[in-house]
Amino acid sequence: VSPEILDLVRRDAARIYAGKERSKHVMPQESINQLLVRLAKEGKRVLRLKGGDPFIFGRGGEEIETLASHGIPFQVVPGITAATGAASYAGIPLTHRDYAQSCVFVTGHLKDGSVDLDWLMLARPNQTIVVYMGLLGLSELCRQLIAHGLPAATSAAIIQQGTTHKQRVLTGTLQTLPGLTAAARLTPPTLIIVGEVVKLHGKLAWFEPQRDVDAADITMGISSGSE
Ligand SMILES: C[S@@+](CC[C@H](N)C(=O)[O-])C[C@H]1O[C@@H](n2cnc3c(N)ncnc32)[C@H](O)[C@@H]1O
Repeated sequence: VSPEILDLVRRDAARIYAGKERSKHVMPQESINQLLVRLAKEGKRVLRLKGGDPFIFGRGGEEIETLASHGIPFQVVPGITAATGAASYAGIPLTHRDYAQSCVFVTGHLKDGSVDLDWLMLARPNQTIVVYMGLLGLSELCRQLIAHGLPAATSAAIIQQGTTHKQRVLTGTLQTLPGLTAAARLTPPTLIIVGEVVKLHGKLAWFEPQRDVDAADITMGISSGSE
């Protein structure tokens, strides 16, 4: 969560960092769940602050299931998930009457070194696929989508640090995107978008990151989740 958002937190609040990056989890999920319960039982008002929407690949459901099982009242304030935030700032509408009538969000997180997804469901025409945590599995993702029927020339994009002044957007095809990404040395967090809507980026890109603005993430959209 960006410094600008953290700056809105009340001054007398105790802050406990529980962030996660790939293979660098400060606190295991179960400990986070239990910490929320313990603090609440101590009578504290607890804000669990997360990037994006806590119910989209955010484990928010697990955290509040734990609260619910202890009878602890809670409310959820949704943020803007990376897919919609980054796509908007990259000028890529996720649906469009001419190109995509559906959009699916999937995780490209590697499990035992491979990406485990329903490839036939994904490789449908007129659909946009948004992949969270997909940087490491990008080559495998593109290979599987082609193997399951999407043309190699299908448009695809990768967005690094979307919505911030460090945003970078690369566009290509299922065939070319892995090579372009490796050459550009992109780092997490990144979001991958596959589908013909990506073609609109050239026409609709409106956001110009000011790279000299030091760490000035302009929206709350940044999180450094695992990939
Ligand atoms: C564990 S998920 C959490 C997603 C979060 N709950 C949300 O709704 O955006 C973390 C992944 O979200 C994506 N992500 C989050 N912030 C991003 C950003 N600013 N630009 C691109 N991708 C981002 C990346 O794929 C990252 O690995």
